[in-house]
Amino acid sequence: MTRPDTVPADAAAAVLQLARADIRAMDPYRHASADRSLIRLHANESPWPPVTATIGAAEALNHYPPPQPPALLEALARAWGITPAQILVGRGSDEGIDLLTRAFCAAGQDSVVISTPTFGMYSVAARIQGASILDVPLLADQGFALDLPGIRRALDKGPKILWLCSPNNPTGNALSSADIEAVLAAASGRAVVVVDEAYVEFTGETPWTLAVARYPHLVTLRTMSKAHGLAGARLGALIAHPDIIGLLRRIVPPYAVAGPTLEAALAALTPAALTVTTERIGQLLRERERLAAALSRSAQVRRVLPSDANFLLVQFDDAGAALQKLRDAGVLVRDFRGHPGLGEALRLTVGTPPQNDLMIRSLT
Ligand SMILES: Cc1ncc(COP(=O)(O)O)c(C=O)c1O
Repeated sequence: MTRPDTVPADAAAAVLQLARADIRAMDPYRHASADRSLIRLHANESPWPPVTATIGAAEALNHYPPPQPPALLEALARAWGITPAQILVGRGSDEGIDLLTRAFCAAGQDSVVISTPTFGMYSVAARIQGASILDVPLLADQGFALDLPGIRRALDKGPKILWLCSPNNPTGNALSSADIEAVLAAASGRAVVVVDEAYVEFTGETPWTLAVARYPHLVTLRTMSKAHGLAGARLGALIAHPDIIGLLRRIVPPYAVAGPTLEAALAALTPAALTVTTERIGQLLRERERLAAALSRSAQVRRVLPSDANFLLVQFDDAGAALQKLRDAGVLVRDFRGHPGLGEALRLTVGTPPQNDLMIRSLT
């Protein structure tokens, strides 16, 4: 299913004006032709496949993969109910974060808004680019909701990008739709609003990805790393108005999606594979509730935060002791002590039933 783009052309053009003038003006890298019907003697490739090829049957590894592979864009568009022209694929959604920051923020000049505690790459990308960071912390006493008055005040400082993460990593909560709508309204014509939906498959909610057809300044990030189980393949997507995609195609590295990654992603997007993924999401959600209930009963646990994702943020009396117990059982979790507003918190990814049993045994 594809949806019509209802964003007027002048609104989309106005958003592009926020991007760096030098990026708008630059000539993109010209890829070698992706045509597979001709003998490929134009790209200094080896004529033979690698000696030890165990993967790469369909996408011969001696050839460069197609840039922005059309078959992948079409499969993703079908899966998400959008159009291929609204998608840019790259090495994880991390690449989308980096590209947006570089395209919209001039070093030493521009700024971005983040709402901590949140995914760390937004500020890493800003620092690398020399953009300043305006932090409007999430409201810990309101379930880590957005601070809308704070975001409106930050907008007055002229940031180029507002990073929203829903469900948020590490707190696990989805942001309220009304709040995201309010941010989109406040930022209209002023800044790009990014909704990072890395964990949206675990929510059962309609992804903001579909709203890209209505808002010229909305960008969403999706990934194959979480629900689709392809973190090792490195495949993420940025979804936006085709004009923003066109701008970012100027700076995306050539051949950003490796051949074996393309194969793995296409295989994960077949109807049969998607059916298994949906079943696994269901199992994971049941396991999340079982893990949350068991941990809530533990004397060592102060609080299990409600989660809309495939992980739980858990506050302990003594997170260091809990960390050690899990280490002794051979389990690694993420330490979030010391993050403002989180207290003695650890982030536990929901695993297989036996892995979750092990965490429960270690912590109860
Ligand atoms: C909120 C969020 N966004 C993006 C990413 C990056 O994912 P990817 O593997 O697609 O680069 C992560 C990874 O943990 C994440 O938690």
